[in-house]
Amino acid sequence: MEDNITKLSKLFCEVFETSTKPLIVRSPGRVNIIGEHTDYNDGFVLPAAIDKAAYMAVALRDDDEIHLQAHDLNETFSTSVTDLKPVGDVSWPNYILGAAAQFPKKNIPLKGFNAILTSDVPIGAGLSSSAAVECAAIHALNELLQTGLDKIEMVLMAQKAEHEYAGVMCGVMDQFASVMGKQHHVIKLDCRSLEYEYVPFNLDGICVLLLNTNVKHSLASSEYNTRRQECEQAVAWIKEQYPAVNSLRDVTEAMLDECVLPKSTLVDKRSRFIVQEIERLQKGCEDLMRGDTHALGKKMFNTHDGLSRMYAVSCKELDYLVDFARNNPAVIGARMMGGGFGGCTINLVKEDAVEALIKSIQPAYEAAMRLPLTYYAASIENGTTIIR
Ligand code: GLA
Repeated sequence: MEDNITKLSKLFCEVFETSTKPLIVRSPGRVNIIGEHTDYNDGFVLPAAIDKAAYMAVALRDDDEIHLQAHDLNETFSTSVTDLKPVGDVSWPNYILGAAAQFPKKNIPLKGFNAILTSDVPIGAGLSSSAAVECAAIHALNELLQTGLDKIEMVLMAQKAEHEYAGVMCGVMDQFASVMGKQHHVIKLDCRSLEYEYVPFNLDGICVLLLNTNVKHSLASSEYNTRRQECEQAVAWIKEQYPAVNSLRDVTEAMLDECVLPKSTLVDKRSRFIVQEIERLQKGCEDLMRGDTHALGKKMFNTHDGLSRMYAVSCKELDYLVDFARNNPAVIGARMMGGGFGGCTINLVKEDAVEALIKSIQPAYEAAMRLPLTYYAASIENGTTIIR
């Protein structure tokens, strides 16, 4: 890794014809053990930062210009501090520009800068490659502008970057995990208060295996925003009877029976999943603390079934992988992960059975779905760091 960092620094000096060494920031992707689509419903999540990360080399300029390069894509983009706005379709400059735009909004004067981005977080795999870039950019600018923002402020700014420049009304989980991750721990995050607790994640002999469907669903962001609205609709109906209710976190299944089910079976299904998932996470977290991996694994399968049948954010490829895993006794738990409609499944697998699982699932998936199956064994690492 050290070698790659030196290379990135050298590349920066060549590309921007400067001898000033850039600041280098690493910000990771994330996994989430359980608690999906609960973050924007004021519930809990259980994510962790992983060993795949975005790296940014950044230095300020003497003028107002912003020059960006995505090294892996061999693409460049230029604009100026006085002309910050989202560009075209969702694409990589938006994550950096969206991050930069948060500074003037806080009355922090922004300066021109040069940046090179490289990342080994697979794009569209549900591992939060975009949050990794947003968090890297915010940290770099915070350091270079000597703003002294605290980490939670930076998390919230990165989330806003996603809302305003990528158009996805995401919750806070991805950016929080990327910034606050801690090696060998998952974060039990209360998305309402932003209180959090690190829970040790050392499951002896068990590996966190990510299986990538390689499906990139174009509906992902529009459907995501629709789910959010459906949840808000449920809350609005319940609030008519129970004015103290502000989010699905405050809701019971009895309230859904009374106020939502008679009005819409669809909204009922969506919101019931969330109410159950918030509860499931609490119990799953207790399982983890007790070291009862099998109980946690069972809940992961239940989460998948809910995401697929009630919340309707799965797809046939994700379902195929989870069903295959379900029939393998070496897989303790499996489910789709992240926003949905493609990306990865997360699997807790006995370490000594990983190879055999890949050997059987890969050809079966590729034959049935006509798509490649890629896989990663994720390790849990620290959140955003300034490397040098
Ligand atoms: C995406 C969003 C997160 C979260 C997950 C689903 O990753 O960015 O905020 O809502 O989907 O749990």
